[in-house]
Amino acid sequence: MTKASDTKDESTQAGATKVDAKKANGKQKIAAMGDLHVKEHGSVSYKELFSEISQVADILVLTGDLTDLGKVKEAEILAADLRSCSIPIVGVLGNHDYECGCVEEVSHILKEAGVHLLEGQAVEINGVGFAGAKGFAGGFGRHMLSSFGEPAIKAMVTESVEESMRLENALRQVRSERAMVVLHYAPIRETVAGEPEEIYAFLGSSRLAETIDRFPVSAVVHGHAHRGAYQGKTPGGAPVYNVASHIEKPTGRPYALLEL
Ligand SMILES: [Fe+2]
Ligand SMILES: [Fe+2]
Repeated sequence: MTKASDTKDESTQAGATKVDAKKANGKQKIAAMGDLHVKEHGSVSYKELFSEISQVADILVLTGDLTDLGKVKEAEILAADLRSCSIPIVGVLGNHDYECGCVEEVSHILKEAGVHLLEGQAVEINGVGFAGAKGFAGGFGRHMLSSFGEPAIKAMVTESVEESMRLENALRQVRSERAMVVLHYAPIRETVAGEPEEIYAFLGSSRLAETIDRFPVSAVVHGHAHRGAYQGKTPGGAPVYNVASHIEKPTGRPYALLEL
């Protein structure tokens, strides 16, 4: 697992209290948010929000759909806004970030902007291990799509299984006692509730929860279900939070604040 040094923080004038909070063994305040959907034209600026988050949290986690159509220009706009974020940033991509077929360029721009972009890897920051993957669709519980019939259906199930394996590889790299799983797709049905039931199967997969429950995980964050519910638990008891920016959260802000 990569150990990230907190260089962004060291270059800023952080207050004494905040520096104490950043001790490797101290609890970390993690701001988590997804589905920014930054657009090429007429998008809201996230500059002020990132600056606010830097004041209240130690680490920022972004749960995918960072751009609206996966355009290079959109990634550049987000990268410029991220300059006002002075804390470490961890992220995964969402389905929207793949739309234009420029995912490599989009990833490169975000990494250059300081985002620890996880695609089946883990990173440790200030004593917290982050394991990240996008995840995929497939449905929940005994209604999950199974590998039967046409090659196209089998390909979809294969993608779902492979994303779970990417997450497993990431979780195997975590050495820290405190571990956060970062996804775009939902691992449980509970946090997509509120969306039309007809599309639940496109919003996530229980295969992700099955993987999560084989590891000691302190918290799981995801996005994608804009009209879902904020909080749930995997069958094994890991707390799950849908942090899509549209979801109402205890902070009253577009981001959730979790202490690990
Ligand atoms: Fe989204
Ligand atoms: Fe999405």
